[in-house]
Amino acid sequence: MDNNTLLQIAKEYGSPIYVYDAEKITSQYKRLTKAFNSVNNLRINYAAKALSNISVLKLFNSMGSGLDTVSIQEVQLGLKAGFKPENIIYTPNGVSLEEIESVAELGVQINIDNLSILEQFGSKHPKIPVCIRINPHVMAGGNTNISVGHIDSKFGISIHQIPLLLRIVENTNMTINGIHMHTGSDILDIDVFLYASEILFETAKNFKNLKFIDFGSGFKVPYKKGDIETNIEELGKKLSKRFNSFCKEYGKDLTLAFEPGKFLVSEAGVFLAKVNVVKQTTSTVFAQIDSGFNHLIRPMLYGSQHEIVNITNPKGRERFYSVVGYICETDTFANNRRISEINEGDILCFKNAGAYCFTMSSNYNSRYRPAEVLIYKGKPQLIRQRETFEDILRNQLEIAM
Ligand SMILES: Cc1ncc(COP(=O)(O)O)c(C=O)c1O
Repeated sequence: MDNNTLLQIAKEYGSPIYVYDAEKITSQYKRLTKAFNSVNNLRINYAAKALSNISVLKLFNSMGSGLDTVSIQEVQLGLKAGFKPENIIYTPNGVSLEEIESVAELGVQINIDNLSILEQFGSKHPKIPVCIRINPHVMAGGNTNISVGHIDSKFGISIHQIPLLLRIVENTNMTINGIHMHTGSDILDIDVFLYASEILFETAKNFKNLKFIDFGSGFKVPYKKGDIETNIEELGKKLSKRFNSFCKEYGKDLTLAFEPGKFLVSEAGVFLAKVNVVKQTTSTVFAQIDSGFNHLIRPMLYGSQHEIVNITNPKGRERFYSVVGYICETDTFANNRRISEINEGDILCFKNAGAYCFTMSSNYNSRYRPAEVLIYKGKPQLIRQRETFEDILRNQLEIAM
């Protein structure tokens, strides 16, 4: 995705706009599968929540990926994109029994993360095998909001509750066919990952009918040149070896599953926004773009640092800017960042905008959400139209006054 192509896309489809590179998505998928190629049965279930545009889902389906979902709507999107129900796993948290039953009816693999629903589901549907999400009580993840496997987390069934869980399984006569954990996002240290995996292996021994073990995700991707990232190749080597030895011990060739989002799509996406105003105050030079946290909330939500490049003037003299949006609250994308000289009308390119960017966007301030483009087989193709005022009004009802 060179600067000229991106500028051309911004010119043709307007800004702000998300642009994704199908080639990068494919190469990340291949890199991950290669890292685990010594495992007989590997399943990558792409985490739809990261980027759920139907064309992106179709791309994953065409590569042979499965799909990880958290809502019935994501399941429906996946089915519409062509995924077979058996290649979709549904890992909700705190949703109703009714929704879980509706998803089960579609033939999708259910993953349950609390004892209450497990007991209710098992009593009513003992013949439907389910996966269980374990909370291994490991602190992992790049930010407290994305650390979800620790003892105070709302996610998963505590490893200390395994005896209770086993009693429910026995009493309901249900089958547990998978065991799962997801400890957090942006996990740097593969030893933390391997440590949590040992807890999962230990827990797995309690279940005799397993078909797969799902290690969730959490791989850290680089945000700029030279940035630290999870060493997938080393993790692949170490975990595959341990997994293969566990399968021997267990007496069955299980499937090793992952459900990455960021690793597969983060670096494949950029966000393009136009500078509306360059505002010099007594202390700061603000570059104000035609966007805000309504389109890209991660810097405000997680403190994520997206690299920003002025693609209109990439070789200009570098100066310090605070890049902010147009929202009526503070919406700072970057503070005192060195960026090549910015003029009003320039296009700024935010890197690592493939994961959790468009999917977290909103119509706050009654603004339109951005359009999306996928560069597929070298050709930029619009995969989401820019919204219109009708989209803002859709579903709103005016009452007589
Ligand atoms: C259950 C589950 N699986 C997978 C993921 C994907 O994580 P990542 O994008 O870090 O790969 C998440 C992220 O929130 C998750 O909650």
